[in-house]
Amino acid sequence: TVEQKRSDYDLMLQTARFYQHQLKHHKNSSAVIDYVKGRGLSGETVKHYMIGYAPSEWESLCQQVGRNPEQRQQLLELKLASEKTPGRQFDFFRDRLMFPIRDKRGRVIAFGGRVMSKEQGPKYLNSPETRIFHKGFELYGLYEAKQANDKLDSIVIVEGYMDVVALAEQGISYAVAALGTATTVEHMQTLFRTTDTVICCYDGDRAGKDAAWRALENALPYLKDGKSLRFVFLPDGEDPDSLVQQEGKEAFETRLSHADDFSKVLFDKLAQNCELTSDAGKAKLMSEALPMIGKVPSDFYQESLLEKLARLIGRTREQLSAKLVTPKQQHN
Ligand code: UTP
Ligand code: MN
Ligand code: MN
Ligand code: MN
Ligand code: MN
Repeated sequence: TVEQKRSDYDLMLQTARFYQHQLKHHKNSSAVIDYVKGRGLSGETVKHYMIGYAPSEWESLCQQVGRNPEQRQQLLELKLASEKTPGRQFDFFRDRLMFPIRDKRGRVIAFGGRVMSKEQGPKYLNSPETRIFHKGFELYGLYEAKQANDKLDSIVIVEGYMDVVALAEQGISYAVAALGTATTVEHMQTLFRTTDTVICCYDGDRAGKDAAWRALENALPYLKDGKSLRFVFLPDGEDPDSLVQQEGKEAFETRLSHADDFSKVLFDKLAQNCELTSDAGKAKLMSEALPMIGKVPSDFYQESLLEKLARLIGRTREQLSAKLVTPKQQHN
């Protein structure tokens, strides 16, 4: 119900405030603040992103924010607390640096938490799905990016919370992250409703390259005239956080302005697995590229992709057009 939701958002906000308070006043506070400073974050950025600290104790949030039975139950339902045995609840996030995830209206709907001590489970723990949090739809940092920019000419999509906040710290306040999942079609839809240019900038490793390819596939249906999808590939072992701290805003923005267009990435990747000196290889490239080209709604982009493909396999654009199956035509 509407009332239920309002109460959920209120509890999430109380929780974010509780974590913010702990960052300043918990007994571990100075170590955590040292960590935050060590990662190059200023108080201003910490505040802008409402970054906090989940205490190391088992029941801090439960006792502070889950004082009465209704609130305790609500903490369980919002996955901020877990239950070992009936009636015995404990905090879900413990001894972690906390990143509140806000929806596009600024309401706190979930959290991501980074471990502070080594032996405590996965490096990042994210809120599970709840009645107010649907992972595949939300982008970390989108609300904050809109707050910081009158107009979002482009949005950079990165892998992690720390990448978003480190870029913002250096003055690149238009980065967002998918939440521990791949970039979904819904993410791409949201992004292209918000901006004309999406620049994918994932970590410089195998996982980052795979993520880029999936992002490309998921973005194709949103490439209308005037929309642009581009890719920055970082040096091995680097991520946006590590790199922007080394080289600063200008050098990083130079990388962004030299990003590869999606058509280059598409053909480079497909051609990798095809021996283009043989007919078999050319046919393979054609059969893999045509369905992808067919998904692009812009006729203009479609034509230039066909032209590129035609050149690669020694055919004419007209020959290829005839074979193109677009989703629209499939329905007719
Ligand atoms: P990375 O694995 O690239 O984080 O995860 P990192 O750059 O090493 O982290 P730092 O710099 O040491 O802090 C990127 C994102 O993937 C998700 C999180 O959303 C994270 O921000 N992730 C990563 C998880 O959900 N769980 C994990 O255990 C690791
Ligand atoms: Mn729902
Ligand atoms: Mn990574
Ligand atoms: Mn990383
Ligand atoms: Mn990192």
